Amino acid sequence: MEKKSSPLESPTPEEEKLLTSLRAASWSEFRGQEKLKESLRIAITAAKKRKEPLEHILLYGPPGLGKTTMAHLIGKELGVNVRVTSGPAIERAGDLASILTNLEPHDILFIDEIHRLNKVVEETIYPAMEDFALDIVIGKGPSARTLRLDLPPFTIVGATTRIGLLSNPLRDRFGLVSRLSFYESDELKHILSQAAKKLDTIVHPKALTELSRRGRGTPRVALRLLKRVRDVAQVEGEGEVTEAILERSLSILEVDSMGLDSSDRRLLATIIDKFAGGPVGIETLAAALSEDIGTVEEVLEPYIMQIGFLKRTPRGRVVTGEGFKHLGKIIPKHLQEQLF
Ligand SMILES: Nc1ncnc2c1ncn2[C@@H]1O[C@H](COP(=O)(O)OP(=O)(O)OP(=O)(O)O)[C@@H](O)[C@H]1O
Ligand SMILES: [Mg+2]
Repeated sequence: MEKKSSPLESPTPEEEKLLTSLRAASWSEFRGQEKLKESLRIAITAAKKRKEPLEHILLYGPPGLGKTTMAHLIGKELGVNVRVTSGPAIERAGDLASILTNLEPHDILFIDEIHRLNKVVEETIYPAMEDFALDIVIGKGPSARTLRLDLPPFTIVGATTRIGLLSNPLRDRFGLVSRLSFYESDELKHILSQAAKKLDTIVHPKALTELSRRGRGTPRVALRLLKRVRDVAQVEGEGEVTEAILERSLSILEVDSMGLDSSDRRLLATIIDKFAGGPVGIETLAAALSEDIGTVEEVLEPYIMQIGFLKRTPRGRVVTGEGFKHLGKIIPKHLQEQLF
């Protein structure tokens, strides 16, 4: 079966470039996540005053909400370098050692997908985070000895979409553990209008409001929609994003009135049609969708739950009355009461 292009799929390299060019370059451009920004501001100011490195920070939450962007802004504010790596890229303890010994004092090491660090590397990272030291084993067998290597004081900013997969000892070593939440549509509206300006694209006010409602509460999704809509405006219109152009683009992309796309609707329809609305266990559901469990749990479900169409219960996933209604399905009796 051919897969529909969805705004949730990984961006193409060309899109990634565009998104990077739209990346918030300063805190003033970074809208939303107010509570998180406030606790970061305090931590950063305190570290600067004490002339210490910033405490280690763990950012978690669904994809596309701004974890990477935030890491770069933190570095900028502290006036330090941000070295970027990821859990799977650090294969051996030696890789970690070479990254850490090359940092300058107070630098930030951004580790994306930190839940994917392997065990050996994870154990090496504990003393590095706590004491700024690495214990390196030299040689093998009875003649092996451990060498303690001092490191410049540094800060790890870790990012993950799967906080549940992080071990407790690793998690406990972060001074600040913060969740990024979905954006309100007026925050997305602001982000979109900023981006439209950078792209030199005129978006009519009503189209902008509508676009921000369809962005799944996620800047990356909203920005990618903007980019697609702008293409349609250039090909089929006069270059301006009008309401008509927006409607046309969204129907091409199969993004519906709640911002759900074909993959989201397929998830809801599968639970309704194959499992009578649930409860259905995550493994069974993922198998029925031919998706992996991680994608279902971290990419698809969070937003569908946020808007109240899906619930996680101890016995499995269930579609709510609202979910049935949105898909135009006959609402089971026991769910009808919920709606009024
Ligand atoms: N608050 C914001 N204000 C303006 N732009 C934002 C904001 N948050 C995210 N963006 C933009 O959204 C896009 C995605 O953000 P980013 O790459 O930082 O997300 P992420 O959380 O790291 O995603 P992933 O989990 O997939 O790595 C970027 O183009 C970024 O500029
Ligand atoms: Mg990222």
